Amino acid sequence: MMAEPTSVLLTGASGYIGGSLLVYLLHKFDLKSQNIKLFTLVRKPEQVQEVVELGENVVPLLGDVQDAEEMKRLVVENSVSVVIETVDARHFPVAKHFIEALCTVKERLGVPVHFIHTSGAKMFSSHVGVDQTSFLNDDGDVYTTVAGFDTRHPVMKQFVSLNNQIIDFAESKGVRAYIVAPPMVYGPGAGFGNKISIQIVALVRVARALGQLYQVDQTDTLWALMHIDDQVKLYATLLSNLIRLQAPYGRDGFYFSENGTFSWRSLSLAIVNALRKRNSLETIQELPVATDDDLIAMGKVLGCDAGMVPVSLAGSCLIHGNNARKLGWVPQHDVQHLMSQVDSEIEFIVKEDSSFASKSDLALR
Ligand SMILES: NC(=O)c1ccc[n+]([C@@H]2O[C@H](COP(=O)([O-])OP(=O)(O)OC[C@H]3O[C@@H](n4cnc5c(N)ncnc54)[C@H](OP(=O)(O)O)[C@@H]3O)[C@@H](O)[C@H]2O)c1
Repeated sequence: MMAEPTSVLLTGASGYIGGSLLVYLLHKFDLKSQNIKLFTLVRKPEQVQEVVELGENVVPLLGDVQDAEEMKRLVVENSVSVVIETVDARHFPVAKHFIEALCTVKERLGVPVHFIHTSGAKMFSSHVGVDQTSFLNDDGDVYTTVAGFDTRHPVMKQFVSLNNQIIDFAESKGVRAYIVAPPMVYGPGAGFGNKISIQIVALVRVARALGQLYQVDQTDTLWALMHIDDQVKLYATLLSNLIRLQAPYGRDGFYFSENGTFSWRSLSLAIVNALRKRNSLETIQELPVATDDDLIAMGKVLGCDAGMVPVSLAGSCLIHGNNARKLGWVPQHDVQHLMSQVDSEIEFIVKEDSSFASKSDLALR
């Protein structure tokens, strides 16, 4: 007799990461042989229809992750034992009520329960005070390292302890927690909703609006990179391993997704030059160093304070993702791929980024 299926809830189905992961799970991951019943959460009624159109292998659930009672009801009523959270990297309450709900499922059904939290590589970067003289390995003692971070950045200070807080709370509730930390993710998303990412889009927006990108740090700095197709494969690898109780979790459950690093200077220069070529302008060899006024202007484009611009578009993030590789994850796209895709990335971003009304390219003419 077939065992009861494992019920998995993926949040953020209309998002870049969640939407791409949903499509991957439906088309490239054998839900049937893994005996998984897949649910996905959206928060707008019209998105329910989008999920329905993806076929019968996924069940849409409607709700807002901020609504603690509703989330608990959805998890418990559907006997969800795995939550993959891709909505809120920064605040504890969303994780807290999913973990509490999973704890209830564990007590009722007597099954292991799992919470995958999507964090961000910024939480392991120079912006929170991580020593950048060597790489931070996710199979080292990340938990203790994080506990020792001393960030003075007023915004990052609020978030730096969140991953450890989630691990501690999950442990206290008997829930297995996994922290997935994507870096700068690029490549076209595959979902029905948002198809574009965050940081590379921010660079393109600034370049389009100001006609220029800048060197924000004193020296060139390196940041970890990840293609969206490799990112979703990491979740899938983790999922199939955790179901078999073979994935490290809790204090050992950090999963940095990276496949090398890119240089902010080289990527910014490539983006500016690709846009300049599109506008029949000569290419440039160097980026100007950002002044305070430039940071203010960049902040205006990005809708943030000047103080947050370096957090969005600069800094150093040297991480190694060994844990997922040990489970069999093999990322394919590296920095050569990123740099070879700048033109097509820009084309795709300009097409998809309709909310960024562009008086923009005027600055490039
Ligand atoms: N993309 C990256 O490069 C990257 C890197 C590191 C970390 N991350 C983190 O990964 C997470 C996902 O990123 P993303 O790029 O996929 O973002 P995204 O495209 O903006 O997707 C966010 C998703 O969350 C949903 N959502 C937002 N608030 C919600 C709420 N209150 N209740 C239910 N659903 C809600 C959105 O739904 P609607 O469509 O209805 O708005 C959307 O489906 C974020 O926490 C982000 O900080 C992303």
